[in-house]
Amino acid sequence: MKPRVLVTRKVYPQAIAILQEHCVVDYRDSYDILDAATLTRKLQHADGVVCQLTDPMTAEVIAAAPKLRVISQVAVGHDNIAVAAATARGIAVTNTPGVLTEATADLTWALLLATARRIPEAERFLRAGSWQRWDVDLLVGSEVHQKTLGIVGFGRIGQAVARRALGFSMRVLYASRNPAPPAVEQELRARHVPLDLLLKQSDFVSLHVPLRPETRHLIGVEQLCQMKPSACLINTARGPVVDEQALVVALEERLLAGAGLDVFEDEPRVHEGLLRSPRVVLLPHIGSATVQVRGLMCAMAAKDCAAVLQGQRPDHPVNPEVLR
Ligand code: NAP
Ligand code: GLV
Repeated sequence: MKPRVLVTRKVYPQAIAILQEHCVVDYRDSYDILDAATLTRKLQHADGVVCQLTDPMTAEVIAAAPKLRVISQVAVGHDNIAVAAATARGIAVTNTPGVLTEATADLTWALLLATARRIPEAERFLRAGSWQRWDVDLLVGSEVHQKTLGIVGFGRIGQAVARRALGFSMRVLYASRNPAPPAVEQELRARHVPLDLLLKQSDFVSLHVPLRPETRHLIGVEQLCQMKPSACLINTARGPVVDEQALVVALEERLLAGAGLDVFEDEPRVHEGLLRSPRVVLLPHIGSATVQVRGLMCAMAAKDCAAVLQGQRPDHPVNPEVLR
């Protein structure tokens, strides 16, 4: 009998085609998000699930899925999945690293430049009919060229962001638990420093750590106070890496110049204080959102899900210890 796979939400069609070769597919061709109770009910007969970062794959949901053997996430971040609970049950978890690295680094740079040069604010000004003349100090922003970029989390995306900084002749500092290999540091002209030094010296601080218990509110009141008042914070990692309330206060108190945010603590809700601030550029979590990348992510997740259900090793396991 073919294994059953639940696809929780709309995906690109290539994912369904891959799954249908080997599995019976229960496809919810809908943008609606399943709540935990409905997800639990839908998982009763599922051997595998292709899920998204919006799905609450909690320990309770996993515990209530008796047949589940694989959870394949259409994203690289997997903080919505209780990986330890899956591992304890021998359930494989897979994700989609690498394929979205360049697109997310591009978006990070789009946010950095938009924040530094006040681009959305300038466009709003023009569309509102407020543009009367050229003034010497009209919508002046911050220089990017030859400034210091601090990268927090120097993995695939952090390094891709650093590579782009070479073109802007920036000085690059990075903070991570382990230093990158010397060849990478040399190629990217990046220096490993403690987080507090990075915060004190950077003109732009860009976050690229995964959300884990130890990175939740990694940037809070204390860290924001260490930043230069002229600096901008860019977050394309996960919202809860930043204490959003502390960020709102820091912006109001002019402890930093601006922020560019693609991710939020309680998506899709955005803090009123951020919506109010003209010095913040806000995007709806579109880091990897190119047609090509999203198609590849869907196909990767489907392929890995089918592989596990056929007794094969998936290409992108999050918990390889469950695989024989
Ligand atoms: P990655 O290659 O695993 O890089 C993450 C880096 O963070 C690692 O090099 C790790 O190095 C470092 N790190 C972990 N904990 C840390 C800590 N406490 N302090 C400092 N550094 C720490 O992951 P990636 O592919 O670059 O993706 C990073 C994150 O970006 C994802 O987890 C996801 O949440 C987010 N993302 C967002 C979007 C979007 O649409 N906005 C798109 C893609 C990804 P050490 O272990 O040496 O510390
Ligand atoms: C997107 O946020 C991802 O983690 O892939």
